[in-house]
Amino acid sequence: MAEAVVTVLLENLSSLFQKELGSIIGVDEELKKLSSTFTAIRAVLADAEMKQFTDLAIKDWLRKVEDAALLLDDILDEFSTHDLQNQNQQQKGGWFNKIHASCHSSFGLKNAMFRRRMANKMKRMRETLQNIAEERKMFHLCERIATTDKKAELMEWRQTSSVITQPEIYGREEDKERVVQALIQTCDTERAAVHTIVGLGGLGKTTLAQLVFNDDRITMHFDLKIWVCVSEDFSLKRMIKAILDSASVSVSGNLDIDPLQKKLQQALQGKRYLLVLDDIWSEDQEKWDRLKNSLVACGSKVGSSILVTTRLTKVASIMGTLPPHDLSFLSDED
Ligand SMILES: Nc1ncnc2c1ncn2[C@@H]1O[C@H](COP(=O)(O)OP(=O)(O)O)[C@@H](O)[C@H]1O
Ligand SMILES: [Mg+2]
Repeated sequence: MAEAVVTVLLENLSSLFQKELGSIIGVDEELKKLSSTFTAIRAVLADAEMKQFTDLAIKDWLRKVEDAALLLDDILDEFSTHDLQNQNQQQKGGWFNKIHASCHSSFGLKNAMFRRRMANKMKRMRETLQNIAEERKMFHLCERIATTDKKAELMEWRQTSSVITQPEIYGREEDKERVVQALIQTCDTERAAVHTIVGLGGLGKTTLAQLVFNDDRITMHFDLKIWVCVSEDFSLKRMIKAILDSASVSVSGNLDIDPLQKKLQQALQGKRYLLVLDDIWSEDQEKWDRLKNSLVACGSKVGSSILVTTRLTKVASIMGTLPPHDLSFLSDED
């Protein structure tokens, strides 16, 4: 459990770097140090998790790691919320307001205060974490960099399906409505309109995509619905196979691209389809172009749509043909 939590947290940290949030608010050094301490701790987590049942001190230590991870997660949340608020504020004003704000208005002051508060929080966080990292040495745990086994396990843990497993889902009615309407009203001349849902890890992108996928109006509107969990491997062959698999077309043996492409054509031709590509990390424009060309070449019906979920705004800008759907945090009321 702790290992999974820390792994997700490190991913969130790295996506924060990619958004350059760290450098904007001048706390990137603290973030980098935190990230490297967490990486060092993660290396022994697999061993600790095995030994916790016979050693209570290790169990206690693991609890501390999890608490620290949750605390850092809260700090990241605060960054994202602050970033969103800033974006909103800046969108409201023209260029004069922006320059003025960055100099001395209450907006600038608030930013400076926020920066100082967060820098303090992170310093404290780093001290706690360094103590935890020191303590680990007492237990003589083995270091293990995610082996293929662990990696495979993690990949499996990350796999998603179109089935909603969460017993209760809160506060996404509006988001769902907006995405459903956008998909149904997709421009008629587009053969593969690409909608994107963007937001930090754990925010509920997959859950929202599942809600949309299972909505009755969507089921009525599309002739075929396909769900593919992308995560790591975005190669053309794997993608076509996964699409065929989800569309219940059997693929025997190790087919080349050409026969795969023909099967894809048989599956999609004359149909209005919805394809969900969940959790895309690849920023490789060429790979995406190849997949998109393959899909467009299938002669599907107009109004077919692709719905992408991703943490990275860059991915959304490469793939999306429509403005992204930015997912926000649920409010306390939700
Ligand atoms: N609106 C919601 N109500 C209740 N639980 C939610 C909601 N959105 C997400 N979750 C839960 O939060 C966790 C992370 O959500 P997920 O959709 O996988 O996030 P993401 O795809 O953005 O990483 C999951 O366990 C999911 O069931
Ligand atoms: Mg997801």
